[in-house]
Amino acid sequence: MFPLTGWLPVVPALLLVLSACAPQRAAAPEPQPAQPQAAGAKTEYPTMTLKFNHVVARDTPKGKAADKFAALVKQKSGGKIDVQVFPNSELYKDGEELEALQQGAIHFIAPGTDKLGVLIPAWEAPVLPGIFLSEEAGDKFVEPGNAVAKELLEKLREKGLLGLNVWLNGFKHFTSSKRALINPDDFKGQKFRTSGKPDEAFVKALGASAQVMAFSEVFGALQQGVVDGQFNTPSNIVTQKFHEVQKYGTVSRGGVILLYAVATNAKWFDSQTPEVKKLLSEAMDEATRFNNKVAADDNKAGWAAIKASGRLELREQTEAEAKAWAVAGDQVLKEWEARTGKEIIEKLKALNNKG
Ligand code: LMR
Repeated sequence: MFPLTGWLPVVPALLLVLSACAPQRAAAPEPQPAQPQAAGAKTEYPTMTLKFNHVVARDTPKGKAADKFAALVKQKSGGKIDVQVFPNSELYKDGEELEALQQGAIHFIAPGTDKLGVLIPAWEAPVLPGIFLSEEAGDKFVEPGNAVAKELLEKLREKGLLGLNVWLNGFKHFTSSKRALINPDDFKGQKFRTSGKPDEAFVKALGASAQVMAFSEVFGALQQGVVDGQFNTPSNIVTQKFHEVQKYGTVSRGGVILLYAVATNAKWFDSQTPEVKKLLSEAMDEATRFNNKVAADDNKAGWAAIKASGRLELREQTEAEAKAWAVAGDQVLKEWEARTGKEIIEKLKALNNKG
């Protein structure tokens, strides 16, 4: 170690000599204790344009949250990072967006979690019928940092993706052009568009036939009678005008919650500076909380608009009817244990416990 102590007496004298030789200038300010740097004050962010693709309208919980994320990123980066949001499958539709993200052609997507089942079957578990008994249980799952969500998000790494957070929409409801859907018997002889495998199995367990189809193709399929009905949230139904080409709607009590996994390309994200990563993660957490706050209101407003349109004959499901549908749901849950593993199903179900 450098022998500091021996030098100590010499230092003041040396400083005196040096200060006498120095040109005269204003007294240096007293050294101040280091102030914590204001968030982002000195960070120079690189200029970047990023793409966020999704398949729904801007005026939906997901659409609004994606726009919120873009606004937050712009503001936090002082305008340097521009997230361009492409709604309504403008760039890529279901399935395509997943590949585009893996290839690095886009930077963010937020697909319904059933659509990730082709990569990681466990992602189908949160959208199985009867997993979440209330929106509050769903709210717990989508709170940034939730342990079960984290476990699922981390699995996306195996496929070159990085799961950021989970967003919520709400419970899904059936509509049909053929017949009111009250008892499972009413499903017989009808065909429904479904978003993925779990819904397909649920519709079949209820007694109907099903066709998995990209979201962007649903309106045309309903209009042309390729399918008789569909299963979605009020905010999706109203913004896509599905109710305009349907006759009957059933307001279900529980069943399936539509959830989204927000993901980015892992390689791309890993190559960013710590500051950019921090900014994006913070903006994502804020956008997630925003999504989860607006979702319930958007779906309430969706129902109100559907009712006001007078296009659908709407029926509120009774408790007894919901129980009959739940039998079909339980059958799917049981069937899925082998596909996703029982453990993840149990962990998700535990979020229904109070507290
Ligand atoms: C659907 O395909 O019905 C939904 O996943 C669409 C969406 O992203 O809300």
